[in-house]
Amino acid sequence: MITIHDKEFAPFLTSEEISKRIKALAWKINADYAGKRPLVLGILNGSFIFAADLFRELAVEAEISFIKLASYKGTTTTGNVITAIGLEETLTDRHIIIVEDIIDTGKTLSTFLPQLTRQQPASIKIATFLTKPTALKYDVKADYTAFEIEDKFVVGYGLDYDGLGRNLPDLYILK
Ligand code: XMP
Ligand code: MG
Repeated sequence: MITIHDKEFAPFLTSEEISKRIKALAWKINADYAGKRPLVLGILNGSFIFAADLFRELAVEAEISFIKLASYKGTTTTGNVITAIGLEETLTDRHIIIVEDIIDTGKTLSTFLPQLTRQQPASIKIATFLTKPTALKYDVKADYTAFEIEDKFVVGYGLDYDGLGRNLPDLYILK
C-alpha cells in the first residue's frame, strides 16, 4: 500500500505487465502503419510516459509531437471549450495516432477530435493506456487500448493524484 496526499492506493498493475501489453499494442500499430509514417500526438501531461514507451517499441517510420489541452470554464451555456496548446505540425494528409493516458467519460477527446478533423488528416486513431468502459459517457472509441479497468481512480505510470504519483513505475488503484 502507498499513500499519496491523504489517500491510500493499492498495487494494481506492475511495470512488467504494462510493458508486455505495450509491446503487443506496438506490434499491432507496426502492422497497421507500415509505410504510412504516422504522427504520434501525445496529450500532456498524463500520456508522456506511455507515449515514450509505446514510441520506443514502434518499428515503423514515425514522428512524435505533444500537445497540451486547456479547458476553459465558459461563462456561456456552451460550457467547457478545449483547445490545443503547442500544436505546430500541419495535420493535413497525415496519419495521426492520438496517445492518451486514460479515457474516462470521453469528454476530453470528444471535444478535441473535431478540432483535429478540421485539418483534414488522412486518418485519426486513438491509442490509450487505460479505458474505464463503465464510465464512458461520450461517443469516443479507442483503436488501441492497453488495459480496460473498473471505474476507480488510478495513479502512477504518468497519471497523478493532485500532481503527485506520475513517477511511479507501477499503476496503483484507490482503496
Ligand atoms: P475524460 O472524462 O475527459 O477524462 O475522458 C480524461 C482525463 O481525466 C483524467 N482522469 C484521471 N486521471 N486517474 C488520473 O490520474 C484517473 O483514474 C483518471 N480518470 C480520469 C485524466 O487527466 C484524463 O486525461
Ligand atoms: Mg490527461
